[in-house]
Amino acid sequence: MVPAAGRGERLGPGAPKALRELGGVPLLVHAVRALTRSRAVGLVVVAAPADGVAEVVALLDSHGLEGKDIRVVAGGATRQESVRLGLAAIPAEVGIVLVHDAARPLVPVEVVDAVASAVRAGAEAVVPAVPLADTVKRVEPVPGGPEPVLDTPDRSTLRAVQTPQGFRRDTLAEVHAKALAEEAAADGGGLPPVTDDAGLVERFGGRVVVVPGHEEAFKVTRPLDLVLAEAVLARRRA
Ligand code: CTP
Ligand code: MG
Repeated sequence: MVPAAGRGERLGPGAPKALRELGGVPLLVHAVRALTRSRAVGLVVVAAPADGVAEVVALLDSHGLEGKDIRVVAGGATRQESVRLGLAAIPAEVGIVLVHDAARPLVPVEVVDAVASAVRAGAEAVVPAVPLADTVKRVEPVPGGPEPVLDTPDRSTLRAVQTPQGFRRDTLAEVHAKALAEEAAADGGGLPPVTDDAGLVERFGGRVVVVPGHEEAFKVTRPLDLVLAEAVLARRRA
């Protein structure tokens, strides 16, 4: 399932991020192709911007993906809601779900395969991740700074997490349902937002394991990321 309903505010003005182009092809098309290259993937459900469902269907068709089993649903106001809506469109008999950001167009097929294999082998939640290059500090946030440093976590124990994240379908559906119920009960307050699906599994006591990710599975978030993505694509095509 591919959450693709975000606006891409950090990328700057323009079309929704999933529809922005890399090498002349929308990020979403790259991401869907990256998934369909894996033999582990039999169906792709895309959560499109709510006002862009027809446009996304046409776009996927026009890029030669019409032979694949691809379904498009309207996404939601948050990534979590988009994933929940996409999940609801996956047939009941599907037992393993990978959730992959449309904003990670260059994920190598080996990462997709490794995540799917780890779930098949018995893990309920699997995330691909890479070691950090930078030292990380925890701070007391002060807009504009300077920000007092609280401490420096041991970098060797930290990982930067990517997608696709893989799940037993029942686990993923259960934690999304619980998060929704919790949000309704908290009525706007409640726990801080969780930024990935595995984070929901952790919140409700599940076990998440990490497998090796890949540097080319980075997320296109800011303008510089698009520059890097264009360079990676050019290198692949050379
Ligand atoms: N996403 C989604 N529905 C939302 C918000 C995000 O499906 N309401 C998707 C995005 O399309 C993206 C993925 O979640 O593929 C990761 O989110 P992010 O990188 O934050 O993308 P955006 O939310 O689009 O970017 P920004 O936060 O800069 O606006
Ligand atoms: Mg976002």
